[in-house]
Amino acid sequence: MVIRLISLLMQEKSINILGIETSCDETAAAVVADGRVIKSSVIASQTKLHEKYGGVVPEIACRAHIENIYQVITESMEQAKTNKDDIDAIAVANQPGLTVALIVGVTAAKTLSFAWDKPLIAINHLHAHLQSAILAEEKPKLPAAALIVSGGHTCLYDYRSPLEPKLLGSTIDDAAGEAFDKVATILKLPYPGGPSIEKTAEKGNPDAIKFPRSMLGPDSLDFSFSGIKTAVLYYCHGQDMKGKNKVDSMSEQEIADIAASFQAAMIDVLVKKTERAVKRIGAKTVLLGGGVAANNQLRTKLQQLYNSAEPAKKLLIAPKQYCTDNAVMVASLGYHKFRAKLFADLTLEVKATG
Ligand code: KG4
Ligand code: ZN
Repeated sequence: MVIRLISLLMQEKSINILGIETSCDETAAAVVADGRVIKSSVIASQTKLHEKYGGVVPEIACRAHIENIYQVITESMEQAKTNKDDIDAIAVANQPGLTVALIVGVTAAKTLSFAWDKPLIAINHLHAHLQSAILAEEKPKLPAAALIVSGGHTCLYDYRSPLEPKLLGSTIDDAAGEAFDKVATILKLPYPGGPSIEKTAEKGNPDAIKFPRSMLGPDSLDFSFSGIKTAVLYYCHGQDMKGKNKVDSMSEQEIADIAASFQAAMIDVLVKKTERAVKRIGAKTVLLGGGVAANNQLRTKLQQLYNSAEPAKKLLIAPKQYCTDNAVMVASLGYHKFRAKLFADLTLEVKATG
């Protein structure tokens, strides 16, 4: 009887995972219970440091991660009102990302795993982004088609379990967020580009300029965004690139029209490719995550499409605060790997690709 009670109590104890994320320019830590209950989420953003370069500088990112990581982890433990004894495992993003950035989080996670004698769990950052989209849904209907759109990646997945999403397609050149960032630089809008393009586009006409929509053939689930970026560049500098940069002499309205037309073309491609993936795998659910998923136009377009779809499909979009990089998604996926006993050891390495 006593043994039965103890085992019941043990079953009911929640599983607390400390997640650590340093794959790009956010130093983040979070404590999540049972993959869904967010006990804390701390993010130290480096946006200010990279702003003047118009993109993330790996060496600067690495140094800032080193400066911030201890404080961020400590704060996440304090916010969660937890101590090391309550933590069941440490999950860390070890791929893909900037190696010099990933290594900071991985080293911190290995150190804690060794010092606290807790299992270590390796997390694929992109698979973690997927997790942000299903945080609030206990049992999504599967299969799901998942679009992950971030600064470094643009991927479509066939999602049947948190552990083994199958890659259906990805970008062959620029990532969607990268295209937003580069076009913002061309238009001399503030960094990061995605939110500034979105804001500027609010006053623009999305039909003003017909920028190219690269679909890469009728069946392709891959993406290509370098053409549209170049089209914006030519539009602003002239075909031979010898023309005067017209941006300085453009009216606010003209810039808003370019931003709105660019954004419309990007969203058109993302939505159409997602629809292809949905049809290909017979998806019952559609997942959207990653930094670009914070874009209201993209969210609305997908909502319009799937709210009225026949047969009905459930659209699950990551909450805005968990679209961009965070450690909640890492800890949440860590829970599923913990349950599956998929542990790493202290030889864990980082990988730029994923
Ligand atoms: O997922 P994330 O935080 O980092 C990576 O893993 O790359 O994504 C950052 C990217 C940046 O390129 C940023 O410009 C883009 O997400 N982004 C947006 C918006 N908010 C962030 N793109 C379009 N519209 C937005 N509202
Ligand atoms: Zn990311």
